[in-house]
Amino acid sequence: MSKLLKSLALGASVLSAVVFVAATSAAASGDADKGAKVFKKCAACHAVGDGAKNKVGPQLNDVFGRSAGGLDGYKYSKAMVKAGAEGLNWDQGTLTTYLTKPKAMIKGTKMAFAGLRKPADIENLLAYLAQYSAESTSKDEATAPAAKPQESAKATANTTPAPAPASSAWPTRAGGVFGLGRVATEDEVAAWDIDIRPDGKGLPEGSGTVAAGEELYTDNCAVCHGDFGEGVGRWPVLAGGQGTLQEDRPEKTIGSYWPYLSTVYDYVRRAMPFGDARSLSNDDVYALTAYLLYLNDLVDDEDFELSNKNFQDIRLPNEENFIPDGRPEEAHNDNKGDPCMENCTDRPVEITMRARIVDVTPGAGETENSVGTVD
Ligand code: HEC
Ligand code: HEC
Repeated sequence: MSKLLKSLALGASVLSAVVFVAATSAAASGDADKGAKVFKKCAACHAVGDGAKNKVGPQLNDVFGRSAGGLDGYKYSKAMVKAGAEGLNWDQGTLTTYLTKPKAMIKGTKMAFAGLRKPADIENLLAYLAQYSAESTSKDEATAPAAKPQESAKATANTTPAPAPASSAWPTRAGGVFGLGRVATEDEVAAWDIDIRPDGKGLPEGSGTVAAGEELYTDNCAVCHGDFGEGVGRWPVLAGGQGTLQEDRPEKTIGSYWPYLSTVYDYVRRAMPFGDARSLSNDDVYALTAYLLYLNDLVDDEDFELSNKNFQDIRLPNEENFIPDGRPEEAHNDNKGDPCMENCTDRPVEITMRARIVDVTPGAGETENSVGTVD
């Protein structure tokens, strides 16, 4: 075992409980049905389920808890056997790392598979495989988490001659390579997790009226944004601008430009009043959002009350001009295949410019290729 792994094993045993908890929830969140589809990519080489036999690769029944390279009667690569002897045990974390990029984790593995790019695919796949593993972490969430890692450490010890370190000495996504940090608490996550989506997901319970919003606005917002949202000096304008979007100088406000009311709520709650962010209660933000609708002539009743219940009924006028960009050449639609790394063009390769014209190398002096020369 390398020195690095030895020292990691020490730290990792302290952290294994934490890592394990994270692993459990990851397994539980996968969708086994979707995972069955992902498994098609593996099925040429692996079988799983009743009577599964070894094919090109070992059968995968009870792969959770299996020591790497630990199935009797299958001829593994030396690299896989060595990894097992060094304590690599298959669990949610190690399988995730392996399946992301097999050759990066186990140099010399004979599994000829580049890896799965999408974390969700791996999660689903592992949920699927877990059904065929007695020791899978996802199967029995009720089991006390702390008990299991020891059990699997014991199992490892049975199949390998040397005393095996905890499997989490191997890099897993959950604990990270160095086993640093801890899983965030629910409260900590909640404090960050405040985004509100256009479909209303994330809206807190609460309500506020236009009239209440007017008071809050006058006290907290009007200094900068003006009594009617017209903006004082160069502070942002919050109302008006309808019908100006096609002009040379469009006035983009909540009423004229913004697509979703959820953004107004989210923005005000997150960032305003400027300099005193996160000081407003949820009800205050409902009231202010209602008042901003009123300033933009989108509601005309001072008694109008906005709440998480009627929030979705309100549509901003410019919503339909925002459309999802489905063009295949857009970057966010362009991650569907492996990038081309060689022989990507039929045309002869032509070098149009070289980085050295930037001349950033200190002391390079005047050379024939210094500043301004393009070759
Ligand atoms: C082209 C064939 C091939 C494909 C495709 C393939 N594997 Fe493998 N797999 C192998 C081989 C061969 C091994 C043995 C590796 C070694 O000994 O180094 C292996 C080993 C493994 C192991 C280690 C098992 C053990 O007993 O230690 C796991 C887990 C695994 N594969 C899962 C998968 C999954 C899941 C997929 C699909 C996402 C997949 N493999 C796709 C050929 C393949
Ligand atoms: C001290 C001045 C100040 C106060 C007070 C203030 N804001 Fe702002 N507000 C700003 C600035 C500056 C921005 C632009 C910030 C940016 O673009 O990064 C802004 C942006 C906004 C926007 C987004 C406007 C847009 O079109 O991009 C909204 C909505 C908003 N404020 C609402 C409020 C509300 C509601 C209050 C009262 C609770 C408030 N603001 C109090 C200075 C202020």
